[in-house]
Amino acid sequence: MGTFAPSPTETDATRLTDSHGRVIHDLRVSITDRCNYKCVYCRTGEHGAQFAELKIEEYLRLISLFVSLGITKVRLTGGEPLLRRGLIELVQQLARMRTSYGDPLSLALTTNGHLLDGLAQPLKDAGLHRVTVSMDAVEEPTFERITRVPGSFQAVLRGVRAAQAAGLTPVKINCVLLRGFNDDQVEGFAEFARRENVIVRFIEFMPLEEDRLWSPQIVVSLREIVDRINRVIPLVELPPNDPGETARRYTFADGRGEIGIIAPVTQAFCGACSRVRLTSDGKIRTCLFSQAEHDLYGRLRAGEGDAALREYITRTVDGKEARHHIGEPGFLKPSRSMVHIGG
Ligand code: 5AD
Repeated sequence: MGTFAPSPTETDATRLTDSHGRVIHDLRVSITDRCNYKCVYCRTGEHGAQFAELKIEEYLRLISLFVSLGITKVRLTGGEPLLRRGLIELVQQLARMRTSYGDPLSLALTTNGHLLDGLAQPLKDAGLHRVTVSMDAVEEPTFERITRVPGSFQAVLRGVRAAQAAGLTPVKINCVLLRGFNDDQVEGFAEFARRENVIVRFIEFMPLEEDRLWSPQIVVSLREIVDRINRVIPLVELPPNDPGETARRYTFADGRGEIGIIAPVTQAFCGACSRVRLTSDGKIRTCLFSQAEHDLYGRLRAGEGDAALREYITRTVDGKEARHHIGEPGFLKPSRSMVHIGG
């Protein structure tokens, strides 16, 4: 029965999928869980336990296994990834990798921006494509009440501008809104997006903090953000860039500036999730809210070969959770907080 159609294994070899029919092509890798900020909605301010960090070569080996299975986008996170020694070399090596389709990887990084002024150009030269900078206020006192680091506002502003100048664009700004802390910054951020030519993305606060701050009341919803900005500058909704996009996108009536709203709490997008995470100590997390972690690095250390490790990744990703259960009775916070999981 001479048929030249590829066998199912050949076609599946370049697509990492889960049992809910989602294609997973986005890998987020935490390369340290240290952070130089103590943002009130993330850290308690006490010294939390730190997990191990892998060597740069070990991250590269694990990432290349994922890439061989169909990952096309890698985002480096932390903790604060700019604190990690060997970062530039890691980016250089990742920029040389090819996806299983033969294309360069899409390479992004999420940072608090504190050290970005000095690192934006070296990162660009190493082959990084884009950065997302976390900024939770556009007013200095509010910003530093949140980060608990004096001087942080000006440092991050310099970092954002350095990223623009280096061409790590479009620069995205992530802002987590918390009622009573920084919800008065919404309108200021709309102006900021237009003035600085950055994409500001508001994120609904999720229960991932070390402390016990989260409640439904503290979450500022997508609806509320849209209503508030509309009162000052009318918004126009934009179509998604791709089906798995987490942010709802908007521009303004005059077409200048873009904002996005990521609403995991009030408009969960789990059905379109295309992500898995690797923690700084080499464990796979298939959902931010997973109750279990999968020790990929442990298997590497035990001497398992590439074929066995690939098989483990494929099986683990297949078991990705259908969705999270934020706000439902019986919801359990994950065993690690955001700073230890990786954004
Ligand atoms: N809920 C929503 N977003 C969060 N981030 C950190 N903690 C939370 C949380 N509990 C954001 C950071 C960063 C991104 C990786 O995740 O501000 O921008």
